[in-house]
Amino acid sequence: MGYEAKLRVWRGDDGAGELRDYTVEANEGEVVLDLIHRLQATQAPDLAVRWNCKAGKCGSCSAEVNGRPRLLCMTRLSVFRPEDVITVTPMRTFPVVRDLVTDVSYNYTKAREIPAFAPPPELEPGEYRMQQVDVERSQEFRKCIECFLCQNVCHVIRDHEENKPAFAGPRFLMRIAELEMHPLDVADRRDAAQAEHGLGYCNITKCCTEVCPENIHITDNALIPMKERVADRRYDPVVWLGNKLFRR
Ligand code: SF4
Ligand code: F3S
Ligand code: FES
Repeated sequence: MGYEAKLRVWRGDDGAGELRDYTVEANEGEVVLDLIHRLQATQAPDLAVRWNCKAGKCGSCSAEVNGRPRLLCMTRLSVFRPEDVITVTPMRTFPVVRDLVTDVSYNYTKAREIPAFAPPPELEPGEYRMQQVDVERSQEFRKCIECFLCQNVCHVIRDHEENKPAFAGPRFLMRIAELEMHPLDVADRRDAAQAEHGLGYCNITKCCTEVCPENIHITDNALIPMKERVADRRYDPVVWLGNKLFRR
């Protein structure tokens, strides 16, 4: 049964903006992105919103709904009461382009800073062999749709713009962990994880894991194991002595 939903949407650009109130028709089974589209179609044709698949798979429609990072296309209206005001704002950690669209290029910069998969040079493509357990470990991380909600929620950069140059964020620290745990990756990524990508900034608050729409266990399965690997390297006396004696 249809009803009139109360929508509050942030309108503006990188200079200034404000929350504006709208009343938009809502129908059973709809999601917040349906309301945004109806708002565009009926009252605010210049409203900017990024979306693509409407199926939770492209990672484009990331925003904040009542202050919580979410995919607009996967946030059902049924989680609100008809009388609730639904407030939709752009992701706070990235600069606003216009309305609900943010400039997420920080994330692509961080992606480019991670050295690519480095298989053993003597293996030809097609000769790679690995255990199923290792395939499955990588597969969890590869469900990532690059929505950047985890990057958006992490307090290390959410309230600290100055940390951005030194911190890759959970999505890309997870990528480093994936490669470090990959049995065919011959690069040693532990020193760089700490020194160049800011693993030490993460204090395991797990907010990234809580908002991940793919339910990836970012903290438990990627960040903590990576921290353990870095700690083993730094504090294992045998490793320490080996580094002293044989470091090239
Ligand atoms: Fe989005 Fe999860 Fe990937 Fe982070 S790890 S970018 S929250 S899908
Ligand atoms: Fe940030 Fe996730 Fe660590 S939210 S502090 S990267 S556990
Ligand atoms: Fe693709 Fe929402 S529109 S994830």
